[in-house]
Amino acid sequence: MSTLKISDGVVKDEVLVLGLTSTNAKGSIAIEAGDMAIDTKTILSQLVDMGATGKVDEVTKLPGSHVRLMVFTGLGEKSATYTHETLRRAAGSASRALAGNSSATFSLPAKSLAEVAAVAEGAALGAYAFTEFYSSTKDDHKAPLKTITVHSKLASSAEAKASVVRAAIIAKYTYLVRDLINTPPSHLTPDSFTKKLAAVVKSAGGAKSGLKIQIWDEKQLKSQGFGGIIGVGQGSANPPRLLHISYTPKGKAAKRYAFVGKGITFDTGGIALKPALGMEAMKSDMSGAAAVSAAVVAIAELKLNVAIESWAPLAENMPSDTATRPSDIITIFGGKTVEVLNPDAEGRLVLADGLMKAQSSKNKLDGIIDVATLTGAQVIALGTRTSAVMTNNQEFSDDFLAVAAQCGEQFWPMPLPEELRASLDSPVADLANIGDRMGGMLVAGLFLKDFVSPELPWLHLDIAGPAYNEAKPHGYTPVGGTGIALRSLVTLAEQA
Ligand code: BES
Ligand code: MN
Ligand code: ZN
Repeated sequence: MSTLKISDGVVKDEVLVLGLTSTNAKGSIAIEAGDMAIDTKTILSQLVDMGATGKVDEVTKLPGSHVRLMVFTGLGEKSATYTHETLRRAAGSASRALAGNSSATFSLPAKSLAEVAAVAEGAALGAYAFTEFYSSTKDDHKAPLKTITVHSKLASSAEAKASVVRAAIIAKYTYLVRDLINTPPSHLTPDSFTKKLAAVVKSAGGAKSGLKIQIWDEKQLKSQGFGGIIGVGQGSANPPRLLHISYTPKGKAAKRYAFVGKGITFDTGGIALKPALGMEAMKSDMSGAAAVSAAVVAIAELKLNVAIESWAPLAENMPSDTATRPSDIITIFGGKTVEVLNPDAEGRLVLADGLMKAQSSKNKLDGIIDVATLTGAQVIALGTRTSAVMTNNQEFSDDFLAVAAQCGEQFWPMPLPEELRASLDSPVADLANIGDRMGGMLVAGLFLKDFVSPELPWLHLDIAGPAYNEAKPHGYTPVGGTGIALRSLVTLAEQA
C-alpha cells in the first residue's frame, strides 16, 4: 500500500505528474499544471513531437530539467473545471504508468478540496498490484508507486489533510477487495475468507473500534436452518461459512444499514457445470462479499456515525456426488422452500439466507443492501462497466444513485416488473430458483425480493460485469478485481 501525502512546497520527487488537455483548436494541446508554475513553451512543442493529444487514458513521459521525469496524463477536452471522476481517472492512469518508480508528485487542475481529494483517491487507486503469487526469484514485475504526493495550495488546511487520510482508507480497503477477488480458489475458501477478515478486523482495532465479528461453520449453519448456504456448499470439500461483521459507532447512530454480499469463492455451476471457456473468471464470484466486508471495516476506520451489519454467506459451488441436484428442494432460513431447478443460480440461494438472517436481528434497520455478481444477464444488459440497482423503494435508490455518481461508480436503475414473478412459481415448493430467461437480471432481483420485508427499504446491486476486469486496465481500474461498490457503500454511510 502506497503512502499518500499532500504538500504545497517545492517538489522533492524525481517524478512530476501534470495534466494535458486537447483544446478546441485543431490538434492543439495545453498543459494543466494545477497550482504549479510551469514554463510550458518548450515542453509543449516536445509533447507535440511526441504525438501527445491530451485524450483520456493517454500518458506521455518526458525527461525533465528540474525533475527527472515529467508525466502528462490526459484530461480530454480542455475545460474550466474537470469532473471529479476525470481527475480520479487521469491520476490513476498516471500512477499505473509509473509502476517501477518509487515516488511521484501529482499536480493536476484541482482547485476545490473535493477535487484535490479526487486526485489523491485516483492516484492511490491506480497504484495497485497483485503480486502475492509471483515467485520470489522473479523481479521483472514492476512495483507500484510507494509514495504519492498531491501538490496543492490547500495543503495546510485541516480539511485537506483529512481528505487525504480518507483517500488512503478508501484505497486500502479497495485493495483488500481486489486482493480477495484476485486470490484463486486454491487459496481462498469460505473458511480462509473468514480468517482473512478476522485478521483485518483485528488490525483495524477490533472491539476498540466498535467492530464485532461472528462466524458460523457448516454444523451451525445446518442446525440453524441455513438451507441456501448449505445446499450450495454441500458439493464442496471446502465447507461453507457465514461471516457477520458489525460496526457500532461511539455515539447514537444516525442510521443502521445491513449489507449482504454474495460470497461464492468459486462458481463452477455445480451439477449444471459451466463451460470451461472463461470459467476462471468465476473466482470473482465472491466480489459482493468482499465489498460489504471491507466496507464495514472502512466505515469503522473512518469512525462514521452509522451502525452497519455486514453479512457474507460464503460457499464454493462444486459438482460432486454430494452436490445439490436439479429438482432438490431446500429450506431457506426462516422457512421458505425453494425448488433448485438450476444449481448454477446459486447466488440467490445464499443471499436469501443472508437477507433473512440480516432482517432477523433485533435492531431495527433503516435499509438493507445486497451486492452480488448475480447474473450474466446483467453483463448483457449493461456491459462490463455499469452495474444495476433494483429496489423496493424509489427514494433509497435515488439517494444511492446520487452517491454512486459522486464517487465515480457507474450504476443504473433497473425495474422489477411484477409480471415476471409468476415465472418463479414452482408446483412443488414456495418458489423455484430460476424463471424466465428473458430479463434474467430482473427475475433474479424478483427472487430476492421474496426474501425482503416490503416495508424495509432495499437495494439489490448486480455487479456481475464491473466486479472483474477481463479487458485492459483503464484509469485507476486494474485488470482483475476492481473493488466496485466499496466506495458507494462507504460514501452512503458518510452521507447518512
Ligand atoms: N456467478 C454467475 C453470474 C455471473 C456471470 C457473474 C458472468 C459474472 C459474470 C451466477 O451464479 C450464474 O451462474 N448465473 C446464471 C443464472 C441462470 C442459471 C439463471 C447465469 O447468469 O447464467
Ligand atoms: Mn452460478
Ligand atoms: Zn455465481
